[in-house]
Amino acid sequence: MAGLNCGVTLPLLGVLLLGAVRLTRGAAFEIGLPYGSGITVSISPGASPLPPGKPCYIFSRKMATSLVIKSGETKGFSFSCLNPENYFVIEILRNIDCMAGPCFFGEVQLQPPTSQLPTLNRTFIWNVQAHKRIGLELQFSLPRLRQIEPGDSCPDGVTHSISGRVDSTNVKIGTFCSNGTVSRIKMQEGVQMALHLPWFHPRNVSGFSIANRSSIKRLCIIESVFEGEGSATLMSANYPLGFPEDELMTWQFVIPPPLRASVSFLRFNVSNCERKEERVEYYIPGSTTNPEVFKLADKQPGNMAGNFNLSLQGCDQDAQNPGILRLKFEVLVQYPQHESNVSYVVDLSHERAMSLSIEPRPGRQSRRFVPGCFVCLESRTCSTNLTLTAGSRHRISFLCDDLTRLWMNAEKIFSCMDHRYCLRKSYPLQVPRDILQLPVQLHDFSWKLLVPNDRLSLALVPAQKLQQHTQERLCNASFSYLLAGAGASPGQDLYFGSFCPGGAIQQIQVKQNISVTLRTFGPSFRQEVSRQGLTVSFIPYFKEEGVFEVIPDTKSKVYLRTPNWERGLPALASVSWNISVPSDQVACLTFVKERTGLVCQTGRAFLIVQEQSSAAEEVFSLEEVLPKPSAHHHNFWVNISNCSPASGKQLDLLFQVSLSPRTVDLTVILIAVVGGGALLLFALGLIICFVKKNRKKKRNKALAVGVYNGNGNTQMPMQPKFPKAPKDIDPHVYAVIEDTMVYGHLLQGSNGSFVQPEVDTYRPFQGPVGDCPPSPPPICSRAPTLKLAPEDPCPGFSPEPESEPYTFSHPAKCSGGDGNTDVPLLHAHEAEQPGE
Ligand SMILES: *[C@@H]1O[C@H](CO)[C@@H](O)[C@H](O)[C@H]1NC(C)=O
Ligand SMILES: *[C@@H]1O[C@H](CO)[C@@H](O)[C@H](O)[C@H]1NC(C)=O
Ligand SMILES: *[C@@H]1O[C@H](CO)[C@@H](O)[C@H](O)[C@H]1NC(C)=O
Ligand SMILES: *[C@@H]1O[C@H](CO)[C@@H](O)[C@H](O)[C@H]1NC(C)=O
Ligand SMILES: *[C@@H]1O[C@H](CO)[C@@H](O)[C@H](O)[C@H]1NC(C)=O
Ligand SMILES: *[C@@H]1O[C@H](CO)[C@@H](O)[C@H](O)[C@H]1NC(C)=O
Ligand SMILES: *[C@@H]1O[C@H](CO)[C@@H](O)[C@H](O)[C@H]1NC(C)=O
Ligand SMILES: *[C@@H]1O[C@H](CO)[C@@H](O)[C@H](O)[C@H]1NC(C)=O
Ligand SMILES: *[C@@H]1O[C@H](CO)[C@@H](O)[C@H](O)[C@H]1NC(C)=O
Ligand SMILES: *[C@@H]1O[C@H](CO)[C@@H](O)[C@H](O)[C@H]1NC(C)=O
Ligand SMILES: *[C@@H]1O[C@H](CO)[C@@H](O)[C@H](O)[C@H]1NC(C)=O
Ligand SMILES: *[C@@H]1O[C@H](CO)[C@@H](O)[C@H](O)[C@H]1NC(C)=O
Repeated sequence: MAGLNCGVTLPLLGVLLLGAVRLTRGAAFEIGLPYGSGITVSISPGASPLPPGKPCYIFSRKMATSLVIKSGETKGFSFSCLNPENYFVIEILRNIDCMAGPCFFGEVQLQPPTSQLPTLNRTFIWNVQAHKRIGLELQFSLPRLRQIEPGDSCPDGVTHSISGRVDSTNVKIGTFCSNGTVSRIKMQEGVQMALHLPWFHPRNVSGFSIANRSSIKRLCIIESVFEGEGSATLMSANYPLGFPEDELMTWQFVIPPPLRASVSFLRFNVSNCERKEERVEYYIPGSTTNPEVFKLADKQPGNMAGNFNLSLQGCDQDAQNPGILRLKFEVLVQYPQHESNVSYVVDLSHERAMSLSIEPRPGRQSRRFVPGCFVCLESRTCSTNLTLTAGSRHRISFLCDDLTRLWMNAEKIFSCMDHRYCLRKSYPLQVPRDILQLPVQLHDFSWKLLVPNDRLSLALVPAQKLQQHTQERLCNASFSYLLAGAGASPGQDLYFGSFCPGGAIQQIQVKQNISVTLRTFGPSFRQEVSRQGLTVSFIPYFKEEGVFEVIPDTKSKVYLRTPNWERGLPALASVSWNISVPSDQVACLTFVKERTGLVCQTGRAFLIVQEQSSAAEEVFSLEEVLPKPSAHHHNFWVNISNCSPASGKQLDLLFQVSLSPRTVDLTVILIAVVGGGALLLFALGLIICFVKKNRKKKRNKALAVGVYNGNGNTQMPMQPKFPKAPKDIDPHVYAVIEDTMVYGHLLQGSNGSFVQPEVDTYRPFQGPVGDCPPSPPPICSRAPTLKLAPEDPCPGFSPEPESEPYTFSHPAKCSGGDGNTDVPLLHAHEAEQPGE
């Protein structure tokens, strides 16, 4: 290095004294400083102890140990020794006064240029004075700066000492080496920058520029930029001495994706505060509680993604015993430790009308620190909430310490515009594979299925039979389908319920627009992905809100509930369940509970249980007692149809179907004798409780008609309406067709169809009668005021397949808790219905 500098001066010297380089080496320096440059150059003895031997002098007209050249002066000088760098240092001070008028901003030059200076240790000092309100910004081009403790040295000897001013008091911002992360330092009121270059250093540029800024409203702001992994150690102003009283200092950090930053305090002291509290405040991207406030003694945040800033706030100190506030901390920037910076392609280019949002999972807000969590598009634009749209291919990556803090929600719209085109077409509803591969939980995937009004309905067929989520049998699968109407007014939509795989529901048909939402519950969905999948078909329009096709299996009970559970089936809505009964089984239908006593304002609410093969049906008013458990050997319908309920008196019904093997070889005749009800039955001669097992015997076609919902929203096909008047007059009266086991043969027409059926009126319950209603088949009944529990036996139905094929029931169970146990009763197998 010395040689290099000598080389610069050699040609000069060569002109003066050829061959006498050594002697004349220090002779010819001339420094001229223009007027008004604000520059003062001074040469003075260095701080280090002088080497032993002869002293060294400066020759400039006279011999001296120091030299000062002021602005407007030009001076020539030389040194008396060969190695003046061991004796002298040079300081070039430039005052920049921005108070007086417009001042210089921009790239700062070394002036005079180093080539004109003697090879001494040089300190260039820029002293900028500005108004209190003017922010001054020092910008460092590469290399950026690294802070060191005062007294420490830099490997290359180049140091930057930066000070500011608060109310004319000098405040040391810090000492810095080259080769760090600090890119900008903003101050107010004034700044002094001292660049120290050892005599052997070839640097000939200042490496920074100055800009004016608006007020920063604090002592200073130090910006650090990270371009890769690394660390930075930073200190409070005046470190290791005390931070100025009641001041504010901020550090900003630029952290590119996918890096993470962690802050740790290496050393700190707090002063004795009289007012306010000393603290640090963070602005962390993605945090919901910015600024995050910490005490200096707290554990500081880690694994932060994205740019953040940190401010140190002092307090009003106790004048007697101020103590000292100081802080030395480290910011460590690393690649994420837990997940790799993998990028994922989500190809939605073949999708239409679909969008995918990756967003923060809503969570409890707390004052505790939450590191940032981002989704990045093309690794460039990161945000806490990203929505991908159909029609293009997206490459995304995650910048997040914990991906469980995110989830995905997707929506896809299937809409049919032309019913003639759509009819009978089927489409799979499946989550695209690109979405399933993402390392984030899929929360909801919704398909909005839209059809033209009154033209088409929809049939949903799941890949695996579904179970309805009920209190009695909870869904335990890792996902469910939530079915809700998707009408024009979202608040009013009918909610069909939640359905998960592993049940008995084979198909769900809905009247009109619906939204089908696949909702997952936890990571185990990944293992169960193959169980998802629904096929939607566009089918001819029908009037029921929903029709459920249920194929129970022998192993478990099936629980089914009416749509809009807890809020009540909408007024005048009707729903049907087609329940299949295998030929070797008998199904027990039990109504488990009625949530609130339904009271109709207008119209009537009905439950119809209809054998599909015979069309025999039982009609129950839902304003009255619920039907008793009944046994069914063939596929049957459960149809429910609501009235307009009085406010607060909604309809919610839950029922249960269970199967047991049919008993084959028994011929048991039992007479059900239960209280007055049975007597009534006898008297009427309508029913004989008998069981004569004969499977082969074909049943008569039964015929029945229920008229319900006089407004006609639900009608029996091919049956005339009954006049509304009678039932409007007496809401407890409804029309019912007598059992066709008795009359049916009389009604059968020549072509096998039925003629207009006989209609009767029936008062189902008008007092504490407590008897079996005259509905076929007769069933053991209890007081109607009692609600049935799920454990109630199905008449003639053995709940355990391996148990006795017929049951001796306890009288108490049949007499419905009226305390009358006098009538011993052997009853069994009403399931073996008349006609079997
Ligand atoms: C010049 O700087 C170097 C390194 O910074 C130091 O070792 C030396 O003592 C300094 N010389 C003088 C005269 O101060
Ligand atoms: C400067 O940077 C280089 C490479 O980036 C590194 O090896 C070296 O340790 C750094 N020096 C200082 C003083 O930070
Ligand atoms: C600094 O030195 C380099 C060569 O080392 C030279 O190219 C450049 O022009 C010099 N800059 C100034 C401002 O003297
Ligand atoms: C910087 O200074 C220029 C001229 O001196 C002035 O026009 C400008 O408004 C200043 N900018 C700020 C941010 O103070
Ligand atoms: C600063 O704090 C340290 C503990 O962090 C303590 O040991 C030390 O005495 C304190 N110094 C002053 C000057 O308060
Ligand atoms: C700190 O970050 C927040 C949020 O990005 C920003 O609003 C604020 O101005 C920053 N403060 C400083 C001093 O940089
Ligand atoms: C993560 O990013 C860094 C820098 O871009 C790269 O070197 C490294 O291979 C990446 N890791 C993975 C797993 O992609
Ligand atoms: C994310 O963005 C979507 C669409 O812009 C918006 O609906 C949703 O509320 C946002 N989520 C959060 C958590 O900000
Ligand atoms: C879910 O419940 C069914 C029976 O209802 C049971 O067979 C199955 O093992 C359960 N699965 C889990 C994951 O608990
Ligand atoms: C179903 O959706 C279609 C298309 O958006 C709309 O025209 C129709 O009115 C909707 N039907 C109902 C009952 O909301
Ligand atoms: C009722 O369900 C069974 C079994 O899925 C089916 O075969 C039958 O066609 C359904 N009946 C009607 C009327 O949909
Ligand atoms: C029950 O509902 C199904 C399907 O909506 C229908 O086909 C059947 O006729 C209904 N039965 C009665 C008695 O209303």
